[in-house]
Formats: sequence, structure tokens, C-alpha cells
Amino acid sequence: TILVLDFGSQYTHLITRRLRELNVYSEMLPCTQKLAELSWKPKGVILSGGPYSVYQEGAPHVDPDVFKLHVPILGVCYGLQEIAWHHGKNVLAGEKKEFGHAALKIQRHSGKQAHVDRLFEGLQDDMEVWMSHGDKLSKMPDGFLTVAETANSPFAGIAHEEKEYYGIQFHPEVTHTPKGTEVIRNFAIGICRAKQDWTMEAFVGKEVARIRKLVGDKGQVIGAVSGGVDSTVAARLMHEAIGDRFHAVMVDNGVLRKNEAVQVKETLTKGLGVNLTVIDASERFLGLLKGVADPEKKRKIIGNTFIEIFEEEAKKIAEAAENSPKAGPIEFFLQGTLYPDVIESISFKGPSATIKTHHNVGGLPEKMKLKLIEPLRELFKDEVRHMGTNLGISEELVWRHPFPGPGIAIRIIGDVTPDKVRIVQEADAIFIEEIRKAGLYRQISQAFAALMEGRAVGVVGDQRLHGHIIGLRAVVTTDFMTANAFEFEPAFMRRLTNRIGNEVKGVARVLYEMTSKPPSTIEFE
Ligand code: XMP
Repeated sequence: TILVLDFGSQYTHLITRRLRELNVYSEMLPCTQKLAELSWKPKGVILSGGPYSVYQEGAPHVDPDVFKLHVPILGVCYGLQEIAWHHGKNVLAGEKKEFGHAALKIQRHSGKQAHVDRLFEGLQDDMEVWMSHGDKLSKMPDGFLTVAETANSPFAGIAHEEKEYYGIQFHPEVTHTPKGTEVIRNFAIGICRAKQDWTMEAFVGKEVARIRKLVGDKGQVIGAVSGGVDSTVAARLMHEAIGDRFHAVMVDNGVLRKNEAVQVKETLTKGLGVNLTVIDASERFLGLLKGVADPEKKRKIIGNTFIEIFEEEAKKIAEAAENSPKAGPIEFFLQGTLYPDVIESISFKGPSATIKTHHNVGGLPEKMKLKLIEPLRELFKDEVRHMGTNLGISEELVWRHPFPGPGIAIRIIGDVTPDKVRIVQEADAIFIEEIRKAGLYRQISQAFAALMEGRAVGVVGDQRLHGHIIGLRAVVTTDFMTANAFEFEPAFMRRLTNRIGNEVKGVARVLYEMTSKPPSTIEFE
């Protein structure tokens, strides 16, 4: 295992990500981690970048015991300054900040010193790198040699003459440093000799064993599923670990996609063998949503009602569980938290900041006095998809577009009625069907139909129709923070709008929305 100590750089999690791509297991902890409290010994340590200056009062510093572990250490950006600071406090504010691409020149050594070049082994002498820093070394710390330089940083790479300590001023973890992974490989595998045994299969096996141990022979777990990839993969994994002692609950809130509840039940119970209860609460939700037009109110109603219903169901399952001779009480709550949500809570926020615990479904576990199980907490979305495929979940589900918790309720501008829900569900199903038929589903990140406010005139046969207006949206994005509209061929659009106009009763017009995010958002409300 490689220990990654985080000084708060926005890129730190990418270091762990790159290591995993090399099949090397790593753990990221805040830079304030006391090494005496670790129950394992790392094969090497990486000190990340961070937004501070080492010479500032109150700047974060690593537990000095890290230098007593006698394992290789790689400092990245702030991490390099931190190593230098520990070896003689030779760091100054730079005259100008360096940010962006830089040309790195690697310096080679010979004879007894040749080993300091191991970080750049197999790489060409000129390398494109990404810089983001404002400080520089005032002089080389004692015992170190220069191994790389740029026009602005004469000490862009340093290495200790005897100990396996390395510092680099650039960020090897970002894709703007094209050969960065090779540098990380040289450190982790070449220098630290870390084992390359992190595979998805091994990870699943380890996680299943961990869950079994945590839950015990009789312990039971409850969790909500939505039909999305995260909750499905998490549920499948729990089933693998503890079988029917995992209870999945799906709440049909009446504003799901067309036939969704039925399909989720099919997939999870028949396909994956998961012990699932589907609760049809459509009427309750639609009753509460009646006449509510404010999107935030809709969100609140749906969120709170979900919690109430889930709790009621959990109580029933818990009572039944207590009467079962084979199993004990329900003690755990499954949550499909992914790594990006976890980063929020474990990354280093500053010397005085307290570490936040990440949010969870409306505080349900605390309210119900349940402990959390988060089997996906180390994974990124694409890794969850990979795991899903390994666990036998269909490609169609694994690559499913995201769907918001408040569902179609926030895709109907204005008040929600059963008829409007039907119109959106039908238009949406046709849209997705056509996208799949055209082979475009995977190119699009999220696509859906929504209902605009107001009415428009159309003709059906010889009749004038004062009908509804459907708005279609399809976006391409990697992080959902910014997005661009997908550009369909005109022939596709003609076919699609005709189909929706003809097949969905009550629709007079179909519009396609092209605004990017920002200024708009992905959803209409
Ligand atoms: P926006 O509309 O903010 O959407 O650009 C970004 C992503 O978030 C989803 N979204 C939600 N998901 N509850 C959810 O679970 C919500 O209230 C909600 N609002 C937006 C949206 O579908 C998109 O993927």
C-alpha cells in the first residue's frame, strides 16, 4: 500500500486514481495523520500538493515520523517544499507564480549518483509538465541533487543522494502531464516495489469479506435502491456477501420513468437475486404534490415523504427480522456513496478546519440508529460501472443515464398532475428509444423529456388542439457542472418530434433545448 498524505490540493484524489490504474493499492489520509495511529506500514509515501506556503505561520506540516519510516517518499509541489522545509527550511516565495504548461528538462547522473534518476527512468530528457505553484527553493537542501529543471524552476525535480526521497514541482497526476503516470509508476513500482495486486476482482473479494466480517453471522442490512447504477451495484454486492439478510427497498413515488418500478423489480429480483420490496406510494406522493408549483417545495415534499415511507417499511422489516431464528436485528444501512463524495469529507481543508462528515440520505441512518455500510466509497463512477459488469449486471443498466431523486416532478414546470406525468413518461420513453436505436445513448450523458408551462395550438386531423408543449434535452458532460447540448441530425429530430406529436395524446408541440450549462442548468427546474 502507498500512503497518500493530502495537503488539500484539488488534484490529490487523482494520485490515488493513477495508482489504482497501475493496480497499486493506496490510501489517502489528511496530512495531519499521526503515523503512530496507523495500523499498517506503507511501502512508500506521497506528499500531495496544497494551497499553502510552507514558511507561513500555521502552514500544515507532516508528522515528522514520516521521515523515520525508512520508506521512499515522493513530494509533489507543496510536498516537495515540505521535504525541503524538513531538510533546512530553504523555501522562499517565488517572484512570479508558475501556472500551466512547462517544458521539463531531466538531468542525468552517473556513477554512484545514478540511482537518483530512477524517478525518470525510461523517460525522454524533455517532458511536458503541468505546474501550479508560487514558491521556490532558495537553495538545494543538504544532501539533495537536482534531477530536473524548467526555465523558471532550477529545482523542478530533486532527489536525495542516499535516502529514497524525491520531490517534483510539477503535477504528475493530471492529464496535462502526458507522461505523469510513468513518473508515478517509477516511484510506486520501481522505487517502492509496491505490489500490483489491486484488481476489480480482488477488490470485490476483499469487500465481500469485509462486509461479512462487519455484519457478522446474523446481522442484517437495509438499503434503498433506485434503479440507478450505484445503488444496483451496491445491492448486488451486499447480496453476494450476506444473501437475504440484505433487504433492498424501492419506493415508487409515482414520478419515475415509464415502467421503471416494474423493470427494477425484474432486474434486481429475477436477474440478480436481491431480496427486494417495492412499495407503490404513487398516490401518496401525487396527492401531496397536488397544486405545488415551486420546484424547491416539490423537492422537499418528495425527500421527506421518501424518508417517512422508508422508515415505515424498515420498521416492518425489522419486526419480522426480530422474529426470525436465523437472523439478528437490522443494524446497518447501505449507502452507495462514491469516492468523489468521500473526498469532500476526508480531504484536508486547512490547519484549523474540522473534518466534515459527508451528507447522507436525509440523515436516515442517524435517525434510525443504524450504522453505515458504504462498499463503493473508494471507487469512481467508471470503476463502479466496471464492477457492475464484473458482477453480471447488464450493460444497459451499467451505462444508464442519471435520474434525479425528485424525478419527473422537477421535469414538469408548474403543478404536477397524473396526466402530465403520463405525458412526460411517454415522450421520454420515445426519446430514449430513438436515441438507443440511433446508437447514440453512450455518447450522450443525460437525455430526457420535460413538460413546459402553458399550452400551444396545434392541429390533429382537422381539429385545432390546445395542447401541451414538450421540451427535450440531451447533454454531453463529464462532471455535470458544465454541459453542452447534444447536436442531433435534422432527420433524427424530424422523426422524433413527429413520433412524440403523433403518439403522445395531448401534445401539440415538441421543442429541443440547446442552451449550454452555464447559463442554464441540465434540469428545467
Ligand atoms: P442541474 O439541473 O443542476 O443538474 O444542472 C445536474 C445534475 O443533477 C441532477 N439533479 C438532481 N439530482 N436531486 C437529484 O438527485 C435533485 O434535486 C436534482 N436536481 C438536479 C440532474 O439530473 C443532473 O444530472
